[in-house]
Amino acid sequence: MWDNEVGASKAAARFWCDKIRDGARVLCLATGNTPTAFYKEWTASMQQDSVVASLTTFNLDEYWGIPAGHPGSFRQYMELNLFKPLGLQSDQIHFLPSSLPRAEDTEWDICQRYEEEIRRAGGIDLCLLGIGANGHIGFNEPGSAADGGTHLVALTEKTRRSNQTAFEGPPPERALTMGLKTIMTSREIVLLAFGAQKSKAIHEAFFGPMSEACPASVLQRHPSVTAFLDREAAHHLPAYRS
Ligand code: F6R
Repeated sequence: MWDNEVGASKAAARFWCDKIRDGARVLCLATGNTPTAFYKEWTASMQQDSVVASLTTFNLDEYWGIPAGHPGSFRQYMELNLFKPLGLQSDQIHFLPSSLPRAEDTEWDICQRYEEEIRRAGGIDLCLLGIGANGHIGFNEPGSAADGGTHLVALTEKTRRSNQTAFEGPPPERALTMGLKTIMTSREIVLLAFGAQKSKAIHEAFFGPMSEACPASVLQRHPSVTAFLDREAAHHLPAYRS
């Protein structure tokens, strides 16, 4: 736990870069407000490092039903905050599309292909997660099955409202997301959470019952999760309650 988001992001980036220098190559990445400072720190630490060329990335999720390149898309967020500044090439990057790439595809085909690409890359070594105020990870909303693979989801009103700012009109209603099972196959997980609005979800995720009502509670079954929290997000945890 750190006093603020900056301290926690710096520590998380140091931890993350050490893991990469120790051999982590296949990375799963999150978007949103939470990891922005983390991505800056990671970029600053590795911009000139030859190890960057050996990385493979898979993003957790993408909105469904918006044009490719939409400024509110997660792909655009990643281009701006990590891919361009760090110098990742397009063949290193894997992303769920925001619409059907070919008329003959179905959403199911896309999700199966993504799972297959992860398998072919050797599985995820290191996975970065944020968390929603309702306990979602990726876009696995409350009620998501712990054994689910990559799939199409209907976003809750709460999630749509909190992601509203990236869109001029109403935010998308659906998204493609890695499933909880896919996330859990990661060898190691790093979770970031900042701000009082995350404190309840953090408490439920790590100290509540394991339940579909809080998708992140599935992480209790993972052998290697490290959470980087600021004081506000940690507020409800027994060790930090003030
Ligand atoms: C985004 C993702 C989501 C976010 C979560 C928190 O790729 O997977 O689970 O991590 O919605 O979003 P922020 O960081 O904007 O509060």
